[in-house]
Amino acid sequence: MPQIPQTLHELSVGQLSARSGAAVSALHFYESKGLISSRRTSDNQRRYSRDALRRVAFVRAAQRVGIPLATIRDALAELPEGRTPNRDDWARLSQTWRKELDERIEQLHRLRDHLTDCIGCGCLSLETCVLSNPDDISGERITGSRLMPERRRRTDTD
Ligand code: FES
Repeated sequence: MPQIPQTLHELSVGQLSARSGAAVSALHFYESKGLISSRRTSDNQRRYSRDALRRVAFVRAAQRVGIPLATIRDALAELPEGRTPNRDDWARLSQTWRKELDERIEQLHRLRDHLTDCIGCGCLSLETCVLSNPDDISGERITGSRLMPERRRRTDTD
């Protein structure tokens, strides 16, 4: 991993990429989402403060455990005066996110079990296959594809 001299207070996007391991495109994306920020030099080059390294590490660690970027951004926004997350922040947030991760793992286990039912079946039935119609709200009231004629009728009159 390339070393950055301690006397260097600002990093170019290339230096930040090399040091953090995040692709330049990912850094631009993070910036567009408000996760990191930079200032522009007179020749329109991005310059990041050194603490951007820790912010990027925070974002990537959270992403690795599946935390959505919007949630990460909200967590960063809650820090006073936009400061970089410290050890205590990470400890607190990772504790919170652990619960979400556990719930997601449970949900994935349920999906895996449903997928096991589908293997070798292929029916993709809206009535019996949980994976083909997981949010079947209408199915609680009606069965089959009764919504289709309504859609067709609406389209016919449009
Ligand atoms: S494909 Fe038949 S139950 Fe899912």
